[in-house]
Amino acid sequence: MSSKGAHVREMFGSIATRYDLANHVLSCGIDFYWRARAAEIVDSWHPHTVADLATGTGDLALAIQKKLPYAQLTGVDFLPEMLELAQRKGVSRVVLADAMKLPFHDASFDCVTIGFGLRNLEGCSAALSEMWRVLTAGGHLLVLEFSLPTTPVLRAAYRFYLHRCLPLLGSFLTQKKSAYDYLGDSIENFPSGNAMCDLMRGTGYVSANFEPMTGGIVTIYTATKP
Ligand SMILES: C[S@@+](CC[C@H](N)C(=O)[O-])C[C@H]1O[C@@H](n2cnc3c(N)ncnc32)[C@H](O)[C@@H]1O
Repeated sequence: MSSKGAHVREMFGSIATRYDLANHVLSCGIDFYWRARAAEIVDSWHPHTVADLATGTGDLALAIQKKLPYAQLTGVDFLPEMLELAQRKGVSRVVLADAMKLPFHDASFDCVTIGFGLRNLEGCSAALSEMWRVLTAGGHLLVLEFSLPTTPVLRAAYRFYLHRCLPLLGSFLTQKKSAYDYLGDSIENFPSGNAMCDLMRGTGYVSANFEPMTGGIVTIYTATKP
């Protein structure tokens, strides 16, 4: 495993039991809306098989499961403690695996989703390629990820929250300030908007598109494997 993978594993392992609480408090509960919107988009594709990668405690998987009770959903994460929480919350099928090396045959799923996970993987293009491999032709990809607002004033205010307030609040809720220092830095360094769509196109996806939400602090990306 890469050094980033080992660091990410150690970090999420240390906050697993507090992850949901911190998420909902730090986002003032808006994270439910982001995942519900993602599930609505997935529903419009009518997939039968969905893999939710970096599923964590399963909140995106559960939003999709609720919206698409007919679909077979598989939550994937490389941390057993996260999968245990996801299963306890009702995710129907979970698989312990690295998203960079999925234990699935080519063309196994007609939809792949990843919520707040792509940023944490080692190499965005390599991760998008692995998702491509397990997608069927005509299958859809949905990425839900943090981003920075495009409006200068909003961007400055959000940066203040991200780098000054969030590490303190996160540290109070999880006793792990470093995880929230990492969050701000990783958002700053991650491609967003058109840059992410270009990466998707570069991997071979078509119809790459993005939908900013809540002033641009979160973005949903969608693309299709032709
Ligand atoms: C920020 S959480 C996202 C959880 C969930 N998707 C959500 O919407 O809240 C990121 C998750 O990605 C997992 N993760 C990070 N790198 C991974 C990898 N290479 N393979 C599988 N899971 C990974 C972590 O264990 C963690 O549970």
